[in-house]
Amino acid sequence: MDERLKVSLSGWQLDNPIIPASGTFGFGYEFTEFYDINILGSIATKGTTRDPRFGNPTPRIAECERGMINAVGLQNPGIDKVISEEFAKLKQVYHKQVVANVSGFSEEEYVECAKKMDAQDIVGILEINISCPNVHGGGMSFGVCPEAAAQITKAVKAVTRKPVYIKLSPNVTDIVAIAKACEEAGADGISMINTLLGARFDLRTGKPIIANVMGGFSGPAIKPVALRMVYQVYEAVKLPIIGIGGIACAEDVIEMMSAGATAVEIGAENLRNPYVCKEIIERLPSLMDELKIEKLSDIIGRAHQ
Ligand SMILES: Cc1cc2nc3c(=O)[nH]c(=O)nc-3n(C[C@H](O)[C@H](O)[C@H](O)COP(=O)(O)O)c2cc1C
Repeated sequence: MDERLKVSLSGWQLDNPIIPASGTFGFGYEFTEFYDINILGSIATKGTTRDPRFGNPTPRIAECERGMINAVGLQNPGIDKVISEEFAKLKQVYHKQVVANVSGFSEEEYVECAKKMDAQDIVGILEINISCPNVHGGGMSFGVCPEAAAQITKAVKAVTRKPVYIKLSPNVTDIVAIAKACEEAGADGISMINTLLGARFDLRTGKPIIANVMGGFSGPAIKPVALRMVYQVYEAVKLPIIGIGGIACAEDVIEMMSAGATAVEIGAENLRNPYVCKEIIERLPSLMDELKIEKLSDIIGRAHQ
């Protein structure tokens, strides 16, 4: 382990800032066939909802230049099975805490999941995905409205002592307003960004490639958008940021941390190269030497100095 890679999120010490992103790394244990997952800073587990979800109809993946669109639809076995089966399997092979990603379609659902996650020792941080539609609010996503984002933040904070990181949607006009609302409502940190809404159409039939028509666009192509948003939010709030979006190599990690991220999550690239997180962790020390970076934590937000 290289001491120079250590970072800390809300008092939680990570060996390095590399975290596979929610939905792209299963519950983690699936990747033990590729490498020892204990080298990771942490793991953001698959989006978990109160009830089991079978996900969206297929096809639900479309390849794009420098990225992909997914409309998986939060397929997961529901929180009780996630805890009793998935976390149980993960604990046998992974000895650190995870970033537990929770999704919901109502305030009550978020609260119920947060309460159950709060009781789990394996959970280091609760990452609240607010990109889902609010079924009691006309289907509009919680993440596009500062009041709704604040409402979910407050409700979750009231039922857990774990740090609460709100995962922001980039599909908004003013991401700073949403981040500020979460900070005022008591969030401990911000994870950003989730996927950008996208679509693709078949050249011969003219029809949508994805059964749901639209899906979440992510991968290297979205990196400049993610960097811009992390930069803006770092300027506006005092919370630690987990930077997400288009990270595919060690250079991208340095760039994202310079913009203001304390740690990073790597998403779509895991699907293209299951070794990417390991490769980044191994490459970082020599890249830091080349760039004359003593400690990774020194560069957090240096773009703003
Ligand atoms: C196949 C797939 C499934 C995803 N599932 C979730 C999820 O369950 N919860 C969530 O908060 N984000 C989910 N995401 C979004 C990622 O965690 C990440 O925020 C986004 O993909 C941007 O990072 P990237 O450009 O490195 O992929 C998913 C992304 C992909 C590609």
